Amino acid sequence: MLKGKEIVLGVTGGIAAYKAVELLRLLTRGGANVHVVMTRAAMEFVAPLTFQTLSMNQVHTDLFKLISEREIGHIALADRADLLVIAPATANCIGKLASGIADDLLTTTVMATKAPVLIAPAMNVNMYENALFGENVGKLRQHGFIFVEPVKGMLACGWEGEGKLQEPQIIFEEVVAALAVKDLAGEKVLITAGPTREELDPVRYLSNHSSGKMGYAIARAAYRRGAKVTLVTGPTSLKEPYGVETIKAVSAAEMHEKVLSCFTESSVIIKAAAVADYRPRLRADKKIKKSDKTVTLDLLKNPDILAELGRRKEARLLVGFAAETGDLEKNAGKKLVEKNLDMVVANDICQAGAGFNVDTNCVTLLFRDGRVENLPLMQKDALADVILDRVVALLRGKAGQGLLPGTVT
Ligand code: CTP
Repeated sequence: MLKGKEIVLGVTGGIAAYKAVELLRLLTRGGANVHVVMTRAAMEFVAPLTFQTLSMNQVHTDLFKLISEREIGHIALADRADLLVIAPATANCIGKLASGIADDLLTTTVMATKAPVLIAPAMNVNMYENALFGENVGKLRQHGFIFVEPVKGMLACGWEGEGKLQEPQIIFEEVVAALAVKDLAGEKVLITAGPTREELDPVRYLSNHSSGKMGYAIARAAYRRGAKVTLVTGPTSLKEPYGVETIKAVSAAEMHEKVLSCFTESSVIIKAAAVADYRPRLRADKKIKKSDKTVTLDLLKNPDILAELGRRKEARLLVGFAAETGDLEKNAGKKLVEKNLDMVVANDICQAGAGFNVDTNCVTLLFRDGRVENLPLMQKDALADVILDRVVALLRGKAGQGLLPGTVT
C-alpha cells in the first residue's frame, strides 16, 4: 500500500511515544521508507536505537547535526517526504506549529515541507479540552493539516477521558488515506455487508457464512478514496471502519429499513451483504422445546432489497453481488438485468479461496453493455480497489452522458 513512499515520522515527548514504534512497524510493513525525527523530550521515553533498528534508517534528533550532513541538507527531509506524520503530537508541538515556531528539527521540517502533514495528538484530557488547544487545532486544520482524533480511555496521568493516542492501525489507515487519489470525492457511497439473522426463537436463527470482509474492505477503500461512506452491516466480528458511518442491522427486514432510509441521499450503492431470502413465519417468544416429532419450518419470503433499489435507482449507480455455485455468468447476468444493476460482482463460492469467510476472493465482473471481466484470485482489500476503479469509470461514463450520480435528488 505504501510501496515507494517516503514518510517522515515525528515523535514528540509523551508516554504514547512507545506506540509510535508499532506505527513505524505498520508503515515499514506497508512498504514505506520511514525517517524518524524525535524531539528531545521523546528520547526521554523511547531510545532512538529502537526506531533506528526498525526503520533501518538513521534517527534524526538534532537540527544542527542534520544541517552539517552534506548529503542530506537541512530541508532534505522535508523535500523527500511524501507525507509527514506526527504521532504522538503533544499540545506543545501543536501549539508551536500553530504559531509558526520552528525551534527544533521536527517543527523546522514541518515548516519546510510541501507534503501533507498528519497529526495524531495525545495528552491529558484537560489539556485536550483547553480552548487554546482547540483554537490551535482549528487554525492548523484551516491550513490543511489532517488530524487523527484521539480516543477516550484511561490516560497515563490517571485521568479518564479523551486524549489517548488513536490506535496505530487507524493512524496507519489515515496515512494510506492521505496519500490516496481522491477519485470518489463528492460521492455518497452506501455499502451493505455481512449476513442477516432470521430468528426462530430467543436461542436460534437462520443465517449464512458471510463474514462481512468484502463489504468492509470496500467501505474502507471508498473512505480512503474520498467518499462519504455509510455501511449498513449485518452481525459480524469485524471492527467498525474508521471514518465510516456504520449502521447495524440484524434481520433482512431491519437491513431493508436501514438501507431505504440512507438510499435517497446516496449516489453509489454497493450491496455486498448476503441477505437471507426467507424468514420464519413466526418467531417463538420462548425457546422451542424438542419433542419426538419431526419439525417443519414455515418460511416467508424476505423483500429483495437490491431489486427494490433497482426499481427506484434513477441516476444512482447500483452494484450488486452474486453468490453462485454453478452457471456463474448466466445466473449473475440474470441478476444484472432483473435487478437493474450497473455492475454485478459474481463469485463461485465453491471455488477455493473465494467467497465466504476468507481473506481472498476470485470474481467475475459483468456490466450492462455486455462486458465480462474475469479477475484473478486476490486479497479482498485489493479487490475492493479494483471494484471501485470500475465504479469510478462507470461514474465518469454517466457524467459523460449528462447523468450525474453525485447530484441525484
Ligand atoms: N439481495 C438483497 N435482498 C435479498 C437477497 C439478495 O438485496 N433478499 C442482494 C444481495 O445483497 C446481492 C444480490 O442481491 O447483492 C444477489 O444476492 P444472491 O444471494 O447472490 O442472490 P439472490 O438474489 O438472493 O438469488 P438466489 O439466492 O436465488 O441466487
